[in-house]
Amino acid sequence: MSRVVYVNGSYVPEEQGKISIFDRGFLFADGIYEVTAVVKGKLVDYDAHMERLERSLREIRLEWPCSKEELKAMHLDMVKRNSLDEGWIYMQITRGSADRDFKFPKGVKPTLIAFTQAKKLVDNPDAVRGVSVITVPDIRWARRDIKSVMLLAPVLGKQAAYEAGAFEAWMVEDGKVTEGTSSNAYIVKDGKVITRELSNSILAGCTRRALFRLAKEKGVTLEERAFTPDEAYAADEAFLTSASNFVMPIVEIDSKRVGGGQPGPVTRKLREMFLEEAMN
Ligand code: PDD
Repeated sequence: MSRVVYVNGSYVPEEQGKISIFDRGFLFADGIYEVTAVVKGKLVDYDAHMERLERSLREIRLEWPCSKEELKAMHLDMVKRNSLDEGWIYMQITRGSADRDFKFPKGVKPTLIAFTQAKKLVDNPDAVRGVSVITVPDIRWARRDIKSVMLLAPVLGKQAAYEAGAFEAWMVEDGKVTEGTSSNAYIVKDGKVITRELSNSILAGCTRRALFRLAKEKGVTLEERAFTPDEAYAADEAFLTSASNFVMPIVEIDSKRVGGGQPGPVTRKLREMFLEEAMN
């Protein structure tokens, strides 16, 4: 069955969801996006995603394409029109469509599109088994805090992971892990959860933010600092977070087994805590 997608104010069957070849998202990757999870037909961490969206828009000097109320109504409508029980909503805003010229076009409306993708997020077999990651050099630009659609480096990293039989690639810069191609990276050592501090070097994950809140509530110790691949190989546990995977255990890094090749207890507890909140 065809999905209903959203294009600049209209809900249309996906075959009819089209934008111009002059769209600046297409020509310059001049745009930003958000991916919001849906569980039991409800948006997960929506406010955090919208806060980040507002920040991304400000940082690339792009105006809101509609009011915040309209954007929320669109998200809810998309869930309803697609009978989405579990999965996510992808939304993208670009600087609109104009003849090719690097500087900002004048008097052009931003492009806003959205679509849904159904996916088992709660009963995900990958989360029971745990997944593997490889490390790759971080070749991205210097403003990774902006959720830009300029994703060629993550595409190449994810493809390298796929070709190595891995689920995700952890990117490494100056000898330290920055983050995954589409997720934040964590290790657990002696009961302590370690993840890189927020800066321009990584995206401030909404799942990361929720995890910090839950961990603090439940007395799980967190340390914000960068770690090396060697530290990760020797860790007790490892995991990643994203709206598309929630808390995903990692059992192998660069073909080295982590934590005996099983999802660890701290990771499992954090995943359960996250799911409990998302489902209620
Ligand atoms: N990616 N880091 C990067 C580089 C990401 O692309 C993402 C999300 C995250 C995690 O952020 P959050 O917890 O807010 O999803 C971290 C989305 C899911 C994607 O590109 O599909």
